This record gives sequence, structure tokens and C-alpha cells, in this order.
Amino acid sequence: MTDILFDRSVKIAPSILAADFANFGREIEAVEAEGADWIHVDVMDGHFVPNLTFGPAMCKAIRPHIKTVMDVHLMISPVDPYIDAFAEAGADIITAHVEAGPHIHRTLQAIRGAGAKAGLALNPGTPVEVVDYLLDMVDLVCVMTVNPGFGGQKFIHSQVEKVRKLRAMIGDRPIHIEIDGGVDPITAPLVVAAGADALVAGSAVFKGGSVNNPAPYGDNIRAIRAAAAKLL
Ligand code: DX5
Ligand code: ZN
Repeated sequence: MTDILFDRSVKIAPSILAADFANFGREIEAVEAEGADWIHVDVMDGHFVPNLTFGPAMCKAIRPHIKTVMDVHLMISPVDPYIDAFAEAGADIITAHVEAGPHIHRTLQAIRGAGAKAGLALNPGTPVEVVDYLLDMVDLVCVMTVNPGFGGQKFIHSQVEKVRKLRAMIGDRPIHIEIDGGVDPITAPLVVAAGADALVAGSAVFKGGSVNNPAPYGDNIRAIRAAAAKLL
């Protein structure tokens, strides 16, 4: 597993949900070569969210292609029976949704117990105060800026205020604030100014490129990073 040293610099985490599904290995190598900091893997179960993607076997298959950080976003319910499988598949960060079950505290314990960094994701309708008694057991909080399930949706602006509140609640704790959904050069500066440091981007990174023409991936990543840096 990659050892992640904590820092608050802006990380760009392309979501492979927007990659060519027939070419995950090469897509990952291409976006990493073009400047991706983490690789975001969206796991969906057709139950917690209305879409299906992939499971631990696929994560294990792509792991050797990831040189950076494997950031696994579980949009599944229940979560607990699958934590060990995703940890064994090589996930560095495993993020579970607070809305996915009644025992998020136990879930976060289990993620760290399996040797991964623990992430906690909040849907747009979930108040930020829900993290209050969980802050000492998480390494990352993911603020969803779309309703989870699909790429290419519109950024929900009300979540910027949630990020600002979350940043104040976190204080000096070494906890990443990740933003997921609708991140592009227009929205990235808003959330970075509010305190976010990890930006998931699917469509905004993969648009215009392919494994045979990866240069647009680099242009897209640099455009997000440059836009975010302007407000710092
Ligand atoms: C949504 C996923 C996101 C999604 C982001 O359920 O969790 O990671 O892929 O895609 P864009 O950047 O296109 O909104
Ligand atoms: Zn995601």
C-alpha cells in the first residue's frame, strides 16, 4: 500500500468512471503520466445508488497500474461485509457513506482495522454536523457536490458552505476534505477557497482525450489546478 504523507496541497483525483471501461490499466497510466495525484475509483451497487460499476476484483486488477494513491469510494450498502475485500485489493483510502447504514462508527473502525485510511462521504442533503463524533476516526471527509450515482452532473453550489463549516470543525486534525461531483475549472476555486484539498474530477479530466491521445488529460488537470491556485 502507498504511504500517504498528509498535506493540504491541492490533489487532483481523476475518477475512472469517466475513463474507457475497456482500457482501465492504460487510462490510469495515462492520467498519472499527465499529472494526476490520486486515482478515484467509484464503486456502485445498484441499491445505495441507482447505478452499477465494479467490485473488489476489478480494484485488484487495476492496482498494479496505480503508482499514486488508490482512492476507493464505496457507494454501496451494506458496507461492512466488503471492507476486507477492498483492503486486500490494495485500496489506500476506503470511503463509506454516512447514509449507507446505521453503524458508521463501526464501519470506520473496520476500515482502519483493515489497514486502510478511512474516508467518510456525505450526500448533499446530509448536514455537516453528522461528522461531529467521528472526526477522530477519519482521514478524509468527502463532500458530495452531486447526488452520487453518475458522472457528468451539475455541481450543487449549496455545498460550498458545508465545506467551509467542515474546514472549521476539522481545525488542526490531519483530515483531507475531498470534493466529488461537478468539479471543473469554474467550481474548483470555490471549494478550495472554502478549505478543500482533494478534488475528484471525472468528465472534466477525461474530456477530449483518450489513451492514444492523452495530452488533453494533462491540459484538463493543469486547468483545474491553475484555477484552484488563483484564489489561494
Ligand atoms: C458520482 C461519483 C463521482 C463522479 C464524478 O457518484 O462519485 O466520482 O465520477 O464525476 P464528474 O466529475 O463527471 O462529476
Ligand atoms: Zn466518487
